[in-house]
Amino acid sequence: MDLDQLNQTIAKIEADVAASLTDLTAVDAVRGLDTSVLGKKGTLGSLISGIKDYPPDQRGQVGQTINAAKGRVKELINQRLAGLQSAADAAEASSAGAYDPTLPGLRLPMGSVHPVTAVQWEIERIFERLGFTVESGPEMETEYNNFEALNIPATHPARDMQDTFWVKNGMVLRTHTSPVQHRSMKKFGAPLRVIVPGRCFRYETIDASHENTFHQVEGLMIDRDISIPNLIAMSQTLLTEVMQREVKLRVRPGFFPFVEPGLEIDMNCQICDGKGCPTCKKSGWIEILPCGMVHPNVLTAGGIDPEEYTGFAFGLGLTRLAMMKFGIRDIRVLNAGDLRALVPPERLGGPILS
Ligand code: DAH
Repeated sequence: MDLDQLNQTIAKIEADVAASLTDLTAVDAVRGLDTSVLGKKGTLGSLISGIKDYPPDQRGQVGQTINAAKGRVKELINQRLAGLQSAADAAEASSAGAYDPTLPGLRLPMGSVHPVTAVQWEIERIFERLGFTVESGPEMETEYNNFEALNIPATHPARDMQDTFWVKNGMVLRTHTSPVQHRSMKKFGAPLRVIVPGRCFRYETIDASHENTFHQVEGLMIDRDISIPNLIAMSQTLLTEVMQREVKLRVRPGFFPFVEPGLEIDMNCQICDGKGCPTCKKSGWIEILPCGMVHPNVLTAGGIDPEEYTGFAFGLGLTRLAMMKFGIRDIRVLNAGDLRALVPPERLGGPILS
């Protein structure tokens, strides 16, 4: 086409763009003109490729003409976009204060839980998957449930006045969660799978690793043919899942009147990774799981026939486990009511939030 025709074509394209812009109210549609008009294959943009068809002495002028037109169209598009934006702003401003049910809600700050609670919940989930139920018992117990029913005779050192808080009514603040073993046997009989998280009390001088108030989780599994390998397998599963890493276990003989044989299961110290630190008293090991096979006297006291059933029991140091898991070096932090000791929500993770 000659120059006149070119100018007419351009004028028509510009007129079309101007006309369509007044109708377009969507930002995206307006932006679309960038491609359909100005783009390489657009109505205006594509004219550039025709430059080579003009005599060499006209090519410069043709190019300028087309580019000038592109500049004007670009300007029109930008003006329209600006107009749409200010209209949108005005609409928003006029509806400010109006109730908009589609707005996302405000994010409230998230609460958190005590480290002991966090680990307790985790343990409950783990054992629930293994078919255990979660039981509880009173913090003030009878002397019988706390001691005799557990094969702890009156002469046993654990009944020393030094260790036990005696209540004026002749009862005790339970020194361990083990009395709930007896209560559960009486309540459910055999077979039986329970865990009992709970608070315990000892007449102790408080320091970095001793408290007069602490938490344990008692565990009890009674059935036909339960033996020590079941106990060790359960311990490995439990401690690996709570620490969320492979842990090493060490099994030693231990003595507790309510189990025979009695065992001490130790875990490699999670604070120093077994190298030796004040928390593990430089041994690299933490005593975490005293346990054993339930003593026949305890089964009998609970109304279960020791000829027919065997079982294992353990008394997990829940407070100590929480300290290990969260790297808390001083036990006193846990009962101090200091909110900074709570577990930040992002550290709860895993099973706790599910
Ligand atoms: N009740 C013991 C304590 O507080 C811990 C314990 C040891 C519990 C062995 C058990 C067990 O069930 O089998 O020291």
